[in-house]
Amino acid sequence: MIEISGVSLTLGGSGILNDVNLTVPKGGVTALVGPNGAGKSSLLSLIARLQPLQSGRITVDGLAVDTTPSRELAKVMAILRQDPGVASRLRVAELVGFGRFPHHRGRLTAQDREIVAASLEQFDLGDLSLRFIDTLSGGQRQRALVAMTFCQGTDYILLDEPLNNLDMFHARNLMRTLRRIGDEHGKTVLIVLHDINHAAAHADRIVAMKDGAVVASGDTEAIIRPDVLESIFGFPMLVERVAGRLAVLHHT
Ligand SMILES: Nc1ncnc2c1ncn2[C@@H]1O[C@H](COP(=O)(O)OP(=O)(O)O)[C@@H](O)[C@H]1O
Ligand SMILES: [Mg+2]
Repeated sequence: MIEISGVSLTLGGSGILNDVNLTVPKGGVTALVGPNGAGKSSLLSLIARLQPLQSGRITVDGLAVDTTPSRELAKVMAILRQDPGVASRLRVAELVGFGRFPHHRGRLTAQDREIVAASLEQFDLGDLSLRFIDTLSGGQRQRALVAMTFCQGTDYILLDEPLNNLDMFHARNLMRTLRRIGDEHGKTVLIVLHDINHAAAHADRIVAMKDGAVVASGDTEAIIRPDVLESIFGFPMLVERVAGRLAVLHHT
């Protein structure tokens, strides 16, 4: 479980988050949605301690993120940031291997190598494993970063807009993989998504943010409703049920 209480954040004199209170239960996929600038990345950065906590309290699996040693936290939670800088003269397999760092701290063991190989396979990177990162397309690079994050082997996985640059095939594959690891391995996935239909199709729960606050949170069916979506995004959209699934018509 991730518990966030009374969290506010001010940067450069501007209020970025305002008294955020949120519980993300253990297990399954929780989608974090909301307009640009709502504070989604800022909240993820605080949970993953990429940004120091200024007020309030955040715990992950009972560990307070501001006082637990990074080494310990890195075995519990992994994050893929929205715009991670990556050294380009690195091969895909090496990058993915970095995900194992909290475990081996320098040198991959045979078991680490097996996990890296499985992640390369799982994210359809087998053929690219020896390529340098700077020779990849945006989507291939994004997949390598997601594979690195998974390789860390943590129970909690935070992903900030991992579908960026992915084509429909790979976006769908990634969401299905997340769904599967949530279901089969009891992992807790917190994922920032812009495509509301991926959230509708694959998330157990949706948390919506706007103007630095959580404005809606609940089971997917309770959030994927025209009135709730309009209150979050500020324009009307249709919600239809197609072949048993909710689909949001927001482009028309
Ligand atoms: N270092 C910073 N200094 C000042 N403002 C920032 C900083 N980082 C982010 N912001 C502002 O905080 C708000 C929330 O940003 P962010 O968390 O990235 O939103 P989201 O991920 O929901 O698009 C935005 O208005 C952004 O401009
Ligand atoms: Mg963001």
